[in-house]
Amino acid sequence: VREPVLSAHLADEEATRRSGAALARAWRARPTALFVALVGELGAGKTSWVRGFLGALGVSGPVRSPTYALVETYPVAGGLEVHHFDWYRIAGAGEVEALGFREALRERSACLVEWPERSPLEHARADLEVALAAEGSGRSLQLRARSPLARALLADATRKPEAT
Ligand SMILES: Nc1ncnc2c1ncn2[C@@H]1O[C@H](COP(=O)(O)OP(=O)(O)O)[C@@H](O)[C@H]1O
Ligand SMILES: [Mg+2]
Repeated sequence: VREPVLSAHLADEEATRRSGAALARAWRARPTALFVALVGELGAGKTSWVRGFLGALGVSGPVRSPTYALVETYPVAGGLEVHHFDWYRIAGAGEVEALGFREALRERSACLVEWPERSPLEHARADLEVALAAEGSGRSLQLRARSPLARALLADATRKPEAT
């Protein structure tokens, strides 16, 4: 296996948020362009993971899937920026381009994308894939690192004790 994979069971929504939060804290320490692909059916917990990611960076307002807006941008402390995309309603790479995805993917910016498989060309470029699925009353989680940046973030996120 070439890509490091981390698997876990997430017993409740709080656990899903903690996973997102751990990645966000690791990214804040290495804020280079980051593309996270969030894969899973409707209700799998993708937006919950994004809430945890944003919460760890100090975003406290409501966070919803931008299913109609397609992208929501959150400025965060330290000159960082998080773009939350939902590609459910898009039909291919042309529309992703029009959404400004390439421009959003830059230094000090993280792009968190729900339904990345709507644009396979872009999906293939993700640094980190977060796969969520129903498992009992909770969810299964798989984190796949596909770039050196993602490998470093995964190592950091799993090594550091979680802030309380
Ligand atoms: N680990 C988990 N165990 C049980 N329920 C969860 C878990 N993570 C998230 N949920 C719940 O799943 C539902 C759908 O979550 P959401 O993040 O909106 O999914 P998605 O964005 O993938 O459609 C929410 O009610 C949320 O509380
Ligand atoms: Mg969602």
